This record gives sequence, C-alpha cells and structure tokens, in this order.
Amino acid sequence: MRNAKITAVGAYVPPGVLTNQDLEKMVDTSDEWILERTGIRERHIAAADMATSDMAVEAARCALAQRGIDASSLNAIILCTVTPDMMFPSTACLVQHRLGAKNVWGFDLIAACSGFVYGLTTAAHLVMAGTHDKVLVIGADTMSRIIDYQDRATCVLFGDGAGAMLVEGSGEDEPGFLGFQNEIDGSGGDSLKMPAGGSRLPPSHDTVDQRLHYVKQDGQAVFRFAVKRMGDAILTLLNRAGVKPEDVKVMVPHQANKRIIDSCAKRVGLKDEQVVINIDRLGNTTAATIPLATRDALDQGRIRKGDYVLFTAVGAGFTVGANLWRWGY
Ligand code: UT7
Repeated sequence: MRNAKITAVGAYVPPGVLTNQDLEKMVDTSDEWILERTGIRERHIAAADMATSDMAVEAARCALAQRGIDASSLNAIILCTVTPDMMFPSTACLVQHRLGAKNVWGFDLIAACSGFVYGLTTAAHLVMAGTHDKVLVIGADTMSRIIDYQDRATCVLFGDGAGAMLVEGSGEDEPGFLGFQNEIDGSGGDSLKMPAGGSRLPPSHDTVDQRLHYVKQDGQAVFRFAVKRMGDAILTLLNRAGVKPEDVKVMVPHQANKRIIDSCAKRVGLKDEQVVINIDRLGNTTAATIPLATRDALDQGRIRKGDYVLFTAVGAGFTVGANLWRWGY
C-alpha cells in the first residue's frame, strides 16, 4: 500500500493587527492579563470585505506555488472551518471555483479547532487508498465575525487567518503518514459553542438581542479537557507508532493558550525546543493555527525531511486530534 506525504505548506494572514493595547480600549482587560493567561500579544483581523474563502484562496495559491503545480492537478479540496462564507454552498466550492480547480470534488469539514488535524487524517486516507493523488487541506477561519467584542473572556483570544497543506502519494518506504488518534466527546458541547444561527435557534430579533450569534465559552472547562485529552491522545499515538517523545522533532499544537500547550508538552515529556508556538503573534485562528505554525517552523529551519512531526488539537465538540508524520520534503 502506498503512503501519503505532505509536500507544501501555504499560509495567509490578513494585514490588519489588533493588539492587546487596542483591546484595553474596548473591554476591561490589560496587556498584562492577556499575556500572562494566554501568551497572546496581538492577532490579525480581516478587513470588512474579506471572508473565509478569500483567505483560503490566498493560502491555497501559496501552497500550489511552492509545489509549482496548477490547481487543475488537484483531486480534492477539504476546507476546514467554523466560519464558512455562508451556510451553503460550501466554502470548498467557492474556493474550487476561484482557484480554477477543474478536476476536484470537496467539502467543508466542521471540527472547530481540531478541523485541520481531521482534514489531514482524511486526506492521508484518500491518498493511501490510491484513489487520489493530490488532496489540498485548507484550514481557514474569520473568527472576528463570530466573536463578541463586548465579552472580554473570549475577544482577547481569537484572530483570523488561513493555512493549507498539500498531501500527495508517496512510496511505502518514503517518509509520510504514521497514524492518528482522533476522538469526539459530545458531552462537552455546551462548554464551547455558537448557540444561534442553525436549525435549533434560527436567526431572529430575539437571538440577535441576546447576542447568541457569538462564541460562548466556559474557558476553565475547555482548559482542563484540553490538557488531559490532548496529552492522552498524543501518548496513545506515540506508543502505537513506537516513537518516543524524545524522537519527535517538533510538536505543532493548536494554538489556543500557551499555558495549555506548556502543560500538554510537560505531560507528554516534550522539551520547549520541540514545541512550536506562534500564539503571541496570531492568537487562536481555530482551523488555521496548525498550518500557520508549521509554516513558521519550516521558515525557521526547524523541520527537515524525515523528521517526526506531531500535530495535535482540541476544539469545540469536544473534538480531539493527533497525527504523526515523518516529514516528506
Ligand atoms: O481553541 C478552542 C478552545 N479554547 C480554549 O482552549 C480556551 C481554554 N481556556 C482558556 O484558555 C482560559 O480558561 C482563558 C484564557 C479563557 C481564561 O483564563 P483563566 O485563567 O481560566 O481565567 P478565568 O476564566 O478563571 O478567569 C479569572 C479571572 C476572572 O475574574 P474573577 O472572577 O476572578 O474576578 C475573570 O472574570 O479573570 C477574569 N477575566 C479577565 N480579566 C481581564 C476573564 N477574561 C479577562 C480578560 N481580562 N480578558
């Protein structure tokens, strides 16, 4: 059976920056509190006329250019997001049309902050089945559209951005996909959600008046779940793959809170130099954090062909994900 490898990583963040100092003027918060509790200094925010598909197209073009291929050679597009341009058509369709990707099928994947890990897992299996040669996984979120900038507990956390990885077939002996440990646990559904706008609470004057079209979060419940379950998933995966924590070159975790990342790394037995963190500059961009942080690690020369690279995330749902790859280029 053939394997799957990652062959390009594209990134896009909008130019607008929202700093902690800016937020101090909007809600009762401080740069000191945000930095100490989350590790975030600033985040990027999309201009009013920019939607998720616009950022996704930029990240996709960046990945395709690196590989030197045209969009028409893609076989599938998996678009991971919780902030689609609209309920339907899917953002994958909007992006396919803009890219001119004439030979693909594709879909949106909703798994919140674990979206990109689930997208990568899915792409790897499509490629390993031998039915697809090139699958583009895009993580893109315009979180600023669903964040309540009157709620200090959530508005300091999130930013906007998009990232993309190209997954292609590789020989059985080449470095590539080594496995996954993905789990969902719906008992945590109430801890992180956008209550209105779906079939349960369709948009109405009432839902708008009650500000139910924004992210609502029980931060401490999410924090506790993330540290425990992300760590457990990683240990299960490494154990099954026969890879020791010290052999992992880098872990690229979802960037939700630096304290969550540090606690998880400690639980797993990873040193600081093995962990990629860019939350200080970008905040939590939901499905985009992992490709954006991977792009940074590549630019810093921290990932080379053959290295063990671990991706991991926890998100609304709850969703938990971990993927282990040997880097393919
Ligand atoms: O990616 C999706 C998953 N999401 C996450 O992973 C988020 C997980 N949770 C977290 O990252 C943290 O729980 C938060 C950063 C959201 C909050 O940090 P915390 O250390 O858990 O703070 P807390 O909720 O226990 O609040 C402590 C205090 C409270 O005040 P009192 O009740 O002690 O007087 C809050 O009202 O901090 C207050 N507070 C703030 N103060 C200044 C909450 N937000 C702010 C703020 N600025 N922005």
